[in-house]
Amino acid sequence: MKRILVIGIGPGGAEHLTVQAIEALNRADVIFTFDKGEAKSDLLQLRRDICERYRGGKPYRLIEIANPERGAAGAYKADVRAWHRERAEIVKGLIRDELADTGCGAFLVWGDPAFYDSTLRILEAVAGDPAVTFEYEVIPGISSVQLLAARHKIPLNSIGEPILLTTGRKLAEAYPAHCDSIVVLLDGGAGLDSLAGKDVDIFWGAYLGTPDEILIAGCVADVLDDIRRIREERRAAKGWIMDTYLLRSRSGGS
Ligand SMILES: C[S@@+](CC[C@H](N)C(=O)[O-])C[C@H]1O[C@@H](n2cnc3c(N)ncnc32)[C@H](O)[C@@H]1O
Repeated sequence: MKRILVIGIGPGGAEHLTVQAIEALNRADVIFTFDKGEAKSDLLQLRRDICERYRGGKPYRLIEIANPERGAAGAYKADVRAWHRERAEIVKGLIRDELADTGCGAFLVWGDPAFYDSTLRILEAVAGDPAVTFEYEVIPGISSVQLLAARHKIPLNSIGEPILLTTGRKLAEAYPAHCDSIVVLLDGGAGLDSLAGKDVDIFWGAYLGTPDEILIAGCVADVLDDIRRIREERRAAKGWIMDTYLLRSRSGGS
């Protein structure tokens, strides 16, 4: 039976792989990774570096999957579902054609596969297709969410309170009511823009785990302009940015 390993590789640094992830990386004959475009080619390079470093020279095939463009024809979720179907077709073809009958393939997933990543949804869809037969397992990784908390030396929740994980798009639509601690990922900028005038604390981190890491924390009124300026400067200089942040109500305590 073919086997697929979905390996969380952490949010940026080669030191953030778990021992289990390194062992899984060494079980794979073929390593698949989605190519997110030229601007993020350093992310691709990081994956290559991880393979070189932890496989100790053991040969492997690295297949960089050209990521199809996500359409923007309809509603956001419908576009994303159509995009997942397209990617599922590509993944199905690769598992069918590139893996031997008892071969082992690995998908390297940024951070942890459970946080805002489509690999598991895509594999579930492919696994339900009788055209290919395989087993798969998931090796968790350190998420950017955890690294953000570690870098700022804070717990994500206030005592006994829940944490909401959301996207910049959702935050910009409406600030979540009655939420003491909000973690925001995937913000193209609109989420941060929507915070002007909010009386909350922000713990922001960009390029976490990489040599370019930036951390800023403080009351939104004091630091939001700096975050937005630095974010734009760094994005223009590097061609891409990945940032995440925690918003904490000022009355919440910790
Ligand atoms: C598609 S989601 C993937 C999240 C990933 N599965 C995880 O567990 O971190 C991408 C978002 O994760 C966050 N992210 C990922 N890596 C990051 C990093 N090194 N520094 C800051 N934020 C990061 C950003 O919000 C980015 O827009």
